[in-house]
Amino acid sequence: MATRGTWLLVTLVMAGFCVLALAEKPSACRCSRMDPEHRKNCGFPGITSDQCFENGCCFNSSVKGVPWCYDPLPEQESDQCVMEVSARKDCGFPGISSEECAERNCCFSNTIPQVPWCFFPQSVQDCHY
Ligand SMILES: *[C@@H]1O[C@H](CO)[C@@H](O)[C@H](O)[C@H]1NC(C)=O
Repeated sequence: MATRGTWLLVTLVMAGFCVLALAEKPSACRCSRMDPEHRKNCGFPGITSDQCFENGCCFNSSVKGVPWCYDPLPEQESDQCVMEVSARKDCGFPGISSEECAERNCCFSNTIPQVPWCFFPQSVQDCHY
């Protein structure tokens, strides 16, 4: 005979699977700051915006000839730091450390070589879905 505790455990495990199955909707900046030319397809033909967002992707059907459901820009510590690499305005110097960059109140990301690693944040007011 199953005890109360067992059922509670079963319920919690099932709830956990549901959460894993639904990826989080990306932030508006991760979607709207991506150049439409750089979109990489993340869906299938006829995918709805809800399905697309549930898969953790971005949806925008207003530009013709490019994928409507696409991979978001990489996540950053703050949405103010989410932007295309080409949009980075240098706030530091080559080889700057994350600490020195933080002292300047700028964004730091060193995952891509040969581009500014310390760059000015951008207001998130223009971000939208
Ligand atoms: C879709 O993307 C275009 C180009 O980036 C942008 O001008 C437009 O505002 C976006 N539309 C929505 C609903 O997000």
